[in-house]
Amino acid sequence: MRKTATTPAGGTIPTQPGPRDATGASAPAQPPGPQSGIVSADGLDGAEGDMNGVAGPAGPDTDAVILGAGPSIRPGERATVRLRDAGPDDPPRYAPEWLELREGADAAARAHDLLDPLRIRLANLPGRAGLVIHDVGCGTGSMGRWLAPHLDGAQHWILHDRDPYLLHFAAVASPRSGADGSRVTVETRRGDIGRLTADALKGASLVTASALLDVLTREEVDTLAAACAGAGCPALLTLSVAGRVELTPSDPLDPEIADAFNAHQRRSGMLGPDAVTAAAEAFAEHGATVQVHPSPWQLGPGESALSAQWLRGWVGAAVEERPELRERADRYLSERLAACAAGELHVVVHHSDLLALCRPTGGAS
Ligand SMILES: C[S@@+](CC[C@H](N)C(=O)[O-])C[C@H]1O[C@@H](n2cnc3c(N)ncnc32)[C@H](O)[C@@H]1O
Repeated sequence: MRKTATTPAGGTIPTQPGPRDATGASAPAQPPGPQSGIVSADGLDGAEGDMNGVAGPAGPDTDAVILGAGPSIRPGERATVRLRDAGPDDPPRYAPEWLELREGADAAARAHDLLDPLRIRLANLPGRAGLVIHDVGCGTGSMGRWLAPHLDGAQHWILHDRDPYLLHFAAVASPRSGADGSRVTVETRRGDIGRLTADALKGASLVTASALLDVLTREEVDTLAAACAGAGCPALLTLSVAGRVELTPSDPLDPEIADAFNAHQRRSGMLGPDAVTAAAEAFAEHGATVQVHPSPWQLGPGESALSAQWLRGWVGAAVEERPELRERADRYLSERLAACAAGELHVVVHHSDLLALCRPTGGAS
């Protein structure tokens, strides 16, 4: 596991950073969110007993961060689970604590303006008993917990992720009912978005995702758009990073850290801040009507825990990208964390939500 250097204010900046640092991730005793009614919670295809990656409790070496996504835990904090060692070509693993920590800010940020056009499209679907909604890159399922209570009618959610550990969290903490009290059921599917097909989405009313597009490559976004277009279903893709942050009070180092972070986001072909433009183009090429709305996190003193974790990940990724920043970044992070703890820091992290209304194919229902 990667070692980190502890800054005077307790911030951790990785000394040997790498992009796949969910190792050391700790799991809460209970999955996030309410326990709820699961009808089918285990459609793990080829799950290969992947919970064998879980071998907690972890030892003291538990100070890794998920770069660009948010750190998992700090030295001295209790880890209850350790994911299996990641190889150099393994994809990043996301700590459920990080996803849980951001869930409230995500819910507050998502663009409600896109819900009405979506509801109109869903209401006009022909001959449906209920909605079938695919949440791709579902993580622990926060999108369903947010969206299901905004939609009327019975809903069946199909939760997709490549990480079976997160799928289990998503299944047990799935939403119970829609806006009108109708039943919500879920199933999980383990798989890679890069291999998603229109056939896999057959019968879908909606494809949705949250905090996903910016960690995909252009090819994966093209695959997603082609699959949605082929299935004739709309896509609501929320909370993609826009590459802009505002910190108040400002610091002369802010722009340099932001640039380095954005460069880090684009590593390994990931789209990072280019994701929404790429997705809008990909869906438009398939004939979809695309709307984009801002969905910024607005983090004040009431969100200091999230701000602090975000800061550690943001600065850590910047230093990984540009190691020459380390000394100044250590000082910067210490001061930022101190301001955060004192309730004197406000952070706006800009995101975008995208609604793509694909042409109905007529064969989806
Ligand atoms: C930043 S997390 C967001 C999780 C969740 N949507 C949320 O908002 O809390 C990104 C999720 O996408 C999944 N993911 C990333 N790339 C993927 C891919 N190519 N195929 C399947 N899942 C992927 C990760 O495992 C992770 O659960």
